[in-house]
Amino acid sequence: MAEQSLPRRRVLAGMVALPLGAALARLAPARAESGGLSPTPACDDHPTPEQTEGPYWTPNSPERSDFTSDGAPGEPMTLTGTVVDTACRPVPGTLLDFWHCDGNGVYDNTGYKLRGHQFTDGNGAFRLTTVKPGLYPGRTRHFHVKMRPPGGQVLTTQLYFPGEPANRADGIYRPELEMTVSDPGHASFTFVVKK
Ligand SMILES: [Fe+2]
Repeated sequence: MAEQSLPRRRVLAGMVALPLGAALARLAPARAESGGLSPTPACDDHPTPEQTEGPYWTPNSPERSDFTSDGAPGEPMTLTGTVVDTACRPVPGTLLDFWHCDGNGVYDNTGYKLRGHQFTDGNGAFRLTTVKPGLYPGRTRHFHVKMRPPGGQVLTTQLYFPGEPANRADGIYRPELEMTVSDPGHASFTFVVKK
């Protein structure tokens, strides 16, 4: 695991301290979606909806944006995107803590495989190199992420794949949290945060 600097430890400690119940109480109302080809939310004063973190988040993940060395089973893929505020301005320095199961639907709950945090660059952009999450009982295919813009609040949510048969049966799935998948090995998403 990469060592973390003291300020980043404080950032993560702040994430742990957030009362999840309070965060969930602010769940944004569902937005009407046209079902078109671009489900990524626009920065139109609708922040990205919050979702439950589920039972498998592990605090203090290492800082890294490439999970390839974990050797986890699954199809290689990249997830790219941008964090913007509700005025469409990019938000550099946003902490993004990703975690997800491997291609067989298994989480590493004792170590940090397929877990890591990174910060958006000067353009508010991020890039995660990993494997495609699999399915596990009761859930459709998804990524988990906790994010925190500088000076802002923690947003916990999940990202989904369009066209997944299991989406319809998953009570947590929301269409506005679908990524744009341009090819099987690349997905993208634009997060909208309040500042
Ligand atoms: Fe999950």
